[in-house]
Amino acid sequence: LFEGPWDFVWASTRIDDLPPMIGQEIAFAGRSNVGKSSLINALTRRNALARTSHTPGRTQQLNFFRQAGHDERLTVVDMPGYGYAAVGKEKVAAWTRLIHDYLRGRSNLMRVYVLIDARHGIKEVDETVLATLDKAAVSYQVVLTKGDALKQAERPAMIEKTLAAIRRRPAAFPEVLLTSSEKGLGIPELRAAIARVLAE
Ligand code: GTP
Ligand code: MG
Repeated sequence: LFEGPWDFVWASTRIDDLPPMIGQEIAFAGRSNVGKSSLINALTRRNALARTSHTPGRTQQLNFFRQAGHDERLTVVDMPGYGYAAVGKEKVAAWTRLIHDYLRGRSNLMRVYVLIDARHGIKEVDETVLATLDKAAVSYQVVLTKGDALKQAERPAMIEKTLAAIRRRPAAFPEVLLTSSEKGLGIPELRAAIARVLAE
């Protein structure tokens, strides 16, 4: 599914400027700096497909990626990070509107991967986003990032704790994956999970 080269195809800052819906789509959401762009690069085996940064708030639009020559196969969307305090209120409102409109109107969106920093777990701002997804009935799966920052012995407990936090959420897929884009941890498992969703 992820074999072959990937291309950046589109960036949207406005809901009336989305690329046409072709084939199936998945999106990656999460707080600023959680590692969305890094995870997309790890999945697609490209170092610089999605631009990563030490500065939170790097990705400010919806960025769309597709496989070269296979437009209809799968579109991967890198979403702007939320919950970054230094971004003005106006920007947060614009972001919220864009995300909300995108999530509600995208009928080919198969699943949203909500990334959570394995060191911090689910925060209040994440809860707001999960509630939005539940309300819009958009299927999502929680993925822990930067798993390398936890000792191996600490990882199962973090997965359990996160799973317990989403257990009652109606649109949440009842499995939590722990990944590390830097160490390649959980990446094959995430690829397999995505392949299963698309085959449903
Ligand atoms: P925004 O676009 O600003 O919302 O950020 P993002 O969620 O796309 O995060 P990005 O991928 O740019 O990564 C943010 C920072 O986290 C960078 O400094 C990365 O090097 C670091 N990072 C990403 N993945 C990992 C990981 O698996 N382990 C560790 N230790 N650091 C990571
Ligand atoms: Mg990013």
